[in-house]
Amino acid sequence: MLVDLTQVLLPARRHHYALGAFNVYNLETVDAVLAAASELDSPVIIALGERYLKHFPIQAVAAIVKTMAQDLCVPVVLHLDHAQKLESIEQAIKAGFTSVMIDGSKLILSENIALTKRAVALARPRGVSVEAELGRIVRTGAAEADLFTDPQEARQFVEEADVDALAIAIGTVHGLYKGEPMLDLARLSQIAEQVSVPLVLHGVSGLPDHLIKSAIQLGVAKLNVNTEISIQGVDAIRGFLANRGNENTRLEELMIEARHSMVGVVKKYMEFFGSSGKRQGSFAMARH
Ligand code: 13P
Repeated sequence: MLVDLTQVLLPARRHHYALGAFNVYNLETVDAVLAAASELDSPVIIALGERYLKHFPIQAVAAIVKTMAQDLCVPVVLHLDHAQKLESIEQAIKAGFTSVMIDGSKLILSENIALTKRAVALARPRGVSVEAELGRIVRTGAAEADLFTDPQEARQFVEEADVDALAIAIGTVHGLYKGEPMLDLARLSQIAEQVSVPLVLHGVSGLPDHLIKSAIQLGVAKLNVNTEISIQGVDAIRGFLANRGNENTRLEELMIEARHSMVGVVKKYMEFFGSSGKRQGSFAMARH
């Protein structure tokens, strides 16, 4: 069944586990993420980035996920990731997404609040949850401390924009890390004291286990994984082709190999985040 973010994140924050938001780019990635969730009895967030919409149309994603999720007994959130345009949010809601992220993180605080409020006004009446980002999570490389989230601003942001979840910048980056990843856990702790909604960390691929565990204990309930899924899929295809030499290989054989490997990595994260076996908690919340 499809649910919104609050139904899976509120029990997670309360009981100190986290949900993985796994990015999808095609049928095989959707299938792999849902298969992992089903095998582990884990609620799951399927995340589609706004920048992938040009090759994976939003109506197609919604139709595929809705069809596949209706036969599963785990809660599934269909979430639009990093939308910078309100138009994408409108399209996602119309297509049947249950959750959206509005990313105004490049804007100054007042403009980010104003944009986020407009997204909430579109989504909330339709029962769609909203995540926003405050501070900036950069793409590939090293985190920039002057872009980290300010705890007082986080409080003001959540009070004024009234979002369901807040993505924060405390040292993660999207894509591969340059050097050893470091998180400002003291800042996370201060933000968690100011803000009661579940917190979100983007850029979880490559983050060491001990930092993930600490972040979950301090209030992070949603962890976004993209790069690692792609790496696993591509590595599986490379390995398969290398073993085949010059033999003719069918495209579907490659896809099956990639899917198998992606199911494995998603299951690894679900077990580590503590969401496996947590289906019931989400259904209990969904009834309120
Ligand atoms: P990674 O690619 O670093 O896993 O980040 C994913 C993400 O944050 C998607 O929003």
